[in-house]
Amino acid sequence: MRRSRPAVLVTGAGGYLGRRLGRRFLDEGDHDVVLAVRSEAGRAALADDLGAMAEQARIVVADLGADDPFNEIDDGLRRRVTRIVHTAAVTRFNVERDVARRTNVDGTGHVVDLARRCPVLERLVHVSTVYATGLREGVIHEEPDDGSAGFANAYEWSKWAAEQVVVDEGASLPWSVLRVATIVADDERGRVTQHNAFHETLKLCFYGLLSLLPGRGDTPLYFVTGDAVTDAVARLTHPACPGGVYHVSPERSGALTLDEVLDLVFTRFQEVEEFRHKRILRPLLADRESFELLVGGVTSFAGSLVHQALANVTPFARQLYVAKALDNLRLRTALPQYRAGDPSALVAATVDQLVQHRWGRRVEVV
Ligand SMILES: NC(=O)c1ccc[n+]([C@@H]2O[C@H](COP(=O)([O-])OP(=O)(O)OC[C@H]3O[C@@H](n4cnc5c(N)ncnc54)[C@H](OP(=O)(O)O)[C@@H]3O)[C@@H](O)[C@H]2O)c1
Repeated sequence: MRRSRPAVLVTGAGGYLGRRLGRRFLDEGDHDVVLAVRSEAGRAALADDLGAMAEQARIVVADLGADDPFNEIDDGLRRRVTRIVHTAAVTRFNVERDVARRTNVDGTGHVVDLARRCPVLERLVHVSTVYATGLREGVIHEEPDDGSAGFANAYEWSKWAAEQVVVDEGASLPWSVLRVATIVADDERGRVTQHNAFHETLKLCFYGLLSLLPGRGDTPLYFVTGDAVTDAVARLTHPACPGGVYHVSPERSGALTLDEVLDLVFTRFQEVEEFRHKRILRPLLADRESFELLVGGVTSFAGSLVHQALANVTPFARQLYVAKALDNLRLRTALPQYRAGDPSALVAATVDQLVQHRWGRRVEVV
């Protein structure tokens, strides 16, 4: 690290997006790169993951649940921080509200507080989610949301509340809020290195553990790759890009409906002998009332396979009844080179990869 260079700080640097962004900034080489992780174990794991590159970075421990998380960032470094990219968050959809509040909301408050103490700051990027708009339906513009539509779970609520912290407490700062769609694969070839609710739900379908799914067939779903998001976030971190709220997501025309996704997924599954042999049917879509009745009914069989399968989908179930038409004009204006790619090809490639590797357990194909 050179004492005169500008510095970029990435929080959540041990997470999926944080790692990718950290590497990207190290590759770009025009800033000192400060990587914030939650714990000492996270520091060791990240250093190991970066290998020789770790020498070019400074890894700091900053637990956002602590009172003074950034105490490893001394005054000299603070005065050189020109860019902050805040990705750290508890990302489980079933997170408890108090945990979500402490890390995602109050934690963002700590980041904004640090940003206000960085005298040469040019950009504060807060990485959010398209679901920070909660249960809002219809056309959704790239602007702050008032939260009045409610939320499917505490994760969504906390990501909305974190946006409010940035917009209100960071009002005098050069902020951007980047609402990211669901990352289904690292790249267009469908490689998957981090599983989320999308992958786990497909796994349950493949093994015939879900005969019923919540949702409406015409609900649009917005998918992106880790590569596309990393590139967009890195570019939007540049101070030449205007601040504001961005949807790092395809617009409505680049989304697939839930029905289209299920058709595609089950067509790909049918290519596999093991799946065909079991004669597993595509799950039926339940209306909201029926699904809630079902969930209420099976909770008494705690520990059963059905209960475990439902527990996986229940935290985001309400969202599958909400038709959002995302607008991404601001994104396309700032990044004319942004291309969403073909969502059907992306889902097909992702499903093929998941099946081939049986969700992580590699199956050699001869
Ligand atoms: N992946 C997606 O599909 C997606 C979609 C939309 C939006 N996003 C948003 O993108 C951001 C990054 O997501 P991701 O997929 O990279 O998630 P991730 O892999 O779960 O990474 C989140 C990171 O935050 C860290 N963290 C959690 N609690 C913390 C605390 N108290 N103090 C400091 N760090 C803490 C985690 O550290 P530990 O592992 O040590 O706990 C982890 O490294 C999140 O804000 C998420 O809301 C992601």
